[in-house]
Amino acid sequence: MLEIVGDHERKMASAVNLIPSENLLTPAARLAYLSDAYSRYFFDEREVFGKWSFQGGSIVGEVQREVLVPLVQKVTGARHVDVRGISGLNAMTVALAAFGARDRVTITVPPRHGGHPATAVVAGHFGHRAEALPFRDEAWWEVDLPALAELVARTDPALVYVDQATALVPLDLAGVIRTVKEVSPGTHVHADTSHINAFVWSGLFGQPLDLGADSYGGSTHKTFAGPHKALLLTNDDAVSDKLTSVAVNLVSHHHVSDVVALAIAMVEFAECGGVDYAQAVLANAAAFARALADAGPGVQDAGGVLTRTHQVWYEPAGDPHRISERLFDAGIVVNPYNPLPSTGRLGIRMGLNEATKLGFGEPEMAELAGLLHGVAVDRIAVAEAGERVAAMRQAARPAYCFSEDVVASKLRELTGASGAGVDELAAWLYR
Ligand SMILES: Cc1ncc(COP(=O)(O)O)c(C=O)c1O
Repeated sequence: MLEIVGDHERKMASAVNLIPSENLLTPAARLAYLSDAYSRYFFDEREVFGKWSFQGGSIVGEVQREVLVPLVQKVTGARHVDVRGISGLNAMTVALAAFGARDRVTITVPPRHGGHPATAVVAGHFGHRAEALPFRDEAWWEVDLPALAELVARTDPALVYVDQATALVPLDLAGVIRTVKEVSPGTHVHADTSHINAFVWSGLFGQPLDLGADSYGGSTHKTFAGPHKALLLTNDDAVSDKLTSVAVNLVSHHHVSDVVALAIAMVEFAECGGVDYAQAVLANAAAFARALADAGPGVQDAGGVLTRTHQVWYEPAGDPHRISERLFDAGIVVNPYNPLPSTGRLGIRMGLNEATKLGFGEPEMAELAGLLHGVAVDRIAVAEAGERVAAMRQAARPAYCFSEDVVASKLRELTGASGAGVDELAAWLYR
């Protein structure tokens, strides 16, 4: 079995991952998983049992109360933070259960316009009547606000759940909130920012609560480079109470090592250039899209804009699955996705978030785009591209995070170990 895991390690250490939903967990955050905390439950006694019943997690749980929650409040400006979500879909399930209502309408973004494929399905499991957020026929990326006003007036939705997963440009969240609240002030608006949390938390994209959303949140491992987990945020006391009462029953234990890893990732975001990282992701995505478009046809756009997010979409001349497999063999890991909203069919969805977390900039974007195009059109041999990608990846190190020295010293502190082995392990984590 270790041979298989080793094969994975070797492959990913010589590949560049462009899957927009994934990111690198930094070496410092990975230290969280060495602790015994992984095996413990942490329940906040005030919210669940009234008294401690699972004492094993009582010490490490302080990280949630003393570090993670205050830091998230500071970074996001939100008054209430729920850290129970174990993934974006889990947080989505909690939010749908808390804010939607049986036999009432929940409006979601249809997958054809970039919505998450599970949202309407999960809403249906809770007995909601799912309706699609309307988009303009002539511009698939623009919400049809007059049609939305009409839909809200006609259906009196309990919840509008704005779940943009596949996006070249962020949708007009301010316009959606304004339109919904004008017609129906009592309708709850929740923004699922799973894909764009690094941009929201760095202030580059509008903060949903400032724009008038009742709540928002999502995954912490896509553009935000943390562990697989999710946050839900609100400024409203009653909304927070509702969220908590639902979350404690839909999430049993929310994985205390993930809490610690997320706290470390948040500290790194605040102290190691989180805003610079988020800006670099946007710049890299734009540079990569431009270089790929210069190399040949197939790069998608939204009204002439190649990208204003971390994502770049590509329709290769040939079967996207087959080409993705060839790219994987060449060390370029991409995401065949159906449908790309720009075409309504299968294509290739990419994100430059993890490549940016590896410290890549414009020169690497140009080189990667050239290699990707060359492999996709069969102009560069897979083996040759693979060697060049491996050289790029092996020269890179995790960036916007604590240094190798810091991680080596924390490893000594945590384990009591000393000697050259600690430095070797820190170097391995940094490869
Ligand atoms: C808007 C949205 N919500 C939820 C999810 C699911 O997140 P996770 O994969 O963390 O469960 C995604 C994933 O792409 C998403 O884009």
